[in-house]
Amino acid sequence: MNRSIKQAQNELTRRIEQLRAIFPECVVDEEDTVRVDFEKLKEFLGAPETNEFVWMGKRAASAEARRETYKSLRPWRAESRNWKDTRNIYVEGDNLDFLKLARQDLAGQIDLIYIDPPYNTGRGTFVYRDDFSDSKGDRSSNWASMFYPRVLLAREFLKDSGAIFVSIDDREHANAIKIMDEIFGRENFVATIVWESKREAKGIPPKSMSVTNHEYILCYSKNGSYRFVGDMRNVSDGFANPDSDPRGPWKRQYLQRFGQGFRERTIVDPATGRAYTFETPYTQEKLNRWIAEGRVIFPTPPYKYPARKEFFNEYDNPYKPIVTSWGLFSTKVGSEKLKSLFDGKKVFDYSKPLDLMTTLLRRAMRPDGLVMDFFAGSGTIGHAVMALNAEDGGARRFILVQAPESCGRRSVAYKLGYNDISAICRERLRHAGDLLLSESARESLDVGFRAYRIE
Ligand SMILES: C[S@@+](CC[C@H](N)C(=O)[O-])C[C@H]1O[C@@H](n2cnc3c(N)ncnc32)[C@H](O)[C@@H]1O
Repeated sequence: MNRSIKQAQNELTRRIEQLRAIFPECVVDEEDTVRVDFEKLKEFLGAPETNEFVWMGKRAASAEARRETYKSLRPWRAESRNWKDTRNIYVEGDNLDFLKLARQDLAGQIDLIYIDPPYNTGRGTFVYRDDFSDSKGDRSSNWASMFYPRVLLAREFLKDSGAIFVSIDDREHANAIKIMDEIFGRENFVATIVWESKREAKGIPPKSMSVTNHEYILCYSKNGSYRFVGDMRNVSDGFANPDSDPRGPWKRQYLQRFGQGFRERTIVDPATGRAYTFETPYTQEKLNRWIAEGRVIFPTPPYKYPARKEFFNEYDNPYKPIVTSWGLFSTKVGSEKLKSLFDGKKVFDYSKPLDLMTTLLRRAMRPDGLVMDFFAGSGTIGHAVMALNAEDGGARRFILVQAPESCGRRSVAYKLGYNDISAICRERLRHAGDLLLSESARESLDVGFRAYRIE
């Protein structure tokens, strides 16, 4: 053994022995070495308990976020579209470099960050790397070390009213939540959205006989003031006017809430004198007022309990809240759509369905907002921004970042001449833009992007 290593080891052993003299319970003898039990030592020293999420490599991941980069962002006009007029941005490079380079200019500017990081499937698609196993740490720790510094820096880019949405599946869901909780604060957790990627299980059944067909999108706000835009309330959403009430269309809302600990109240039907007693969140005064205003519907079969009329006109907020289960957005149909932009060739694996992204943008960001996706992949968010603007006349803008990750030599993309994913992404934006221009009646649709490169 090298002499200096040996010396260092001797010194370490000497110090551990000194520690043993003071805290004998904290030094453990193992076969041919001694080990310090740090947890016990912390207990002895009275260190406060924390529930900080730690993994092998976390310290290095934090240091990575702080380390300066000496690279620079350079305009890349040749790969841009409508450089002069467009307000969209495309960046080729590692997103960690981008986040460091752009943080000053873009701090507090972004309405919505959407990211779809590699899910750590371990499969390694033909196109991009999705396996974080190596000799230095376990796969999940490596994934956490990749994810952590990026999200840490990303937070600064959000407006105070902004939010971040993170796509993830079961593999890293728990770790992603813990990291997001740490960086954004549990109090800024807004929702976990669930969507279905397929309806049926095909192929050979697995041993467990269960097939996962859902994924998640985690949503955290920067400081709690974020709101979903909501779906526009529509008279057709269950409102009707069967009794020609001059106050317009209404909906039946029951007054009782059983088993939730509300007080019992009694109301009397003025027409029949019959009394009804039930648990309800409403005060007696309110119930009586509603009866006087002719808003309470007393039961006639098949209804058993009184209800009240909720009028469409009385919603001062034209939107209804979003439920978190979003239903089916077939990844297969999504892939087919992407293929159709590339002459039926499959150039990318696991792109998100376009309609999932348009739904997200419609519900999560105002129509003049700026969205940033720094794991752009095939650029689905960019496509969704342009498509939605074409549809509703909005002025959404995007910033996309994608590394020039090489396409595997066996991939269709490589054979078609796309050496890396960044090239696929730009080409997708161009094809999508052409298609939208040919279909849209809008004269001033922004289908351009200023391209930059990290050098
Ligand atoms: C799951 S895919 C995103 C797919 C995308 N949402 C779509 O619909 O096409 C993740 C992407 O992140 C890219 N990526 C991974 N690490 C990156 C990094 N450090 N910087 C930039 N891009 C990265 C990968 O090349 C891959 O294209």
